[in-house]
Amino acid sequence: GVGTFLRVKPSQLKQMTGRKGKPAWSSWQGKVYNITPYLPYHPGGEGQLMRAAGKDGEQLFMETHPWVNWENMLGSCLVGVLVPEGHGME
Ligand code: HEM
Repeated sequence: GVGTFLRVKPSQLKQMTGRKGKPAWSSWQGKVYNITPYLPYHPGGEGQLMRAAGKDGEQLFMETHPWVNWENMLGSCLVGVLVPEGHGME
């Protein structure tokens, strides 16, 4: 979509837990997604999806359903790209 494409540091991703009023973000293949809008629609339930909140979700995702196309399903929820510490925006 059209919007701000953020450079997200791991320490920032870690804060996006979906709790305390913050959205839930998760990364996959170096890209950061807002998984909050998808929570009510996840066939595996919100609790399962929330296990990937605030961190890289690739391993959990691949363990569960490698046949699902994360990129297609959450394309409109793309927040930005994961960058090394010290290279993001404050
Ligand atoms: C099921 C999407 C992340 C756990 C599913 C299904 C989809 C889906 C489409 C149905 C698959 C099928 O029936 O073939 C997604 C997307 C994710 C995501 C787009 C990334 C944002 C996760 C994570 C977990 C998880 C991180 C954590 C372990 C599950 C489980 C099921 C499931 C356990 C099976 C539900 C059942 O059949 O009873 N997910 N998922 N998912 N998902 Fe996810």
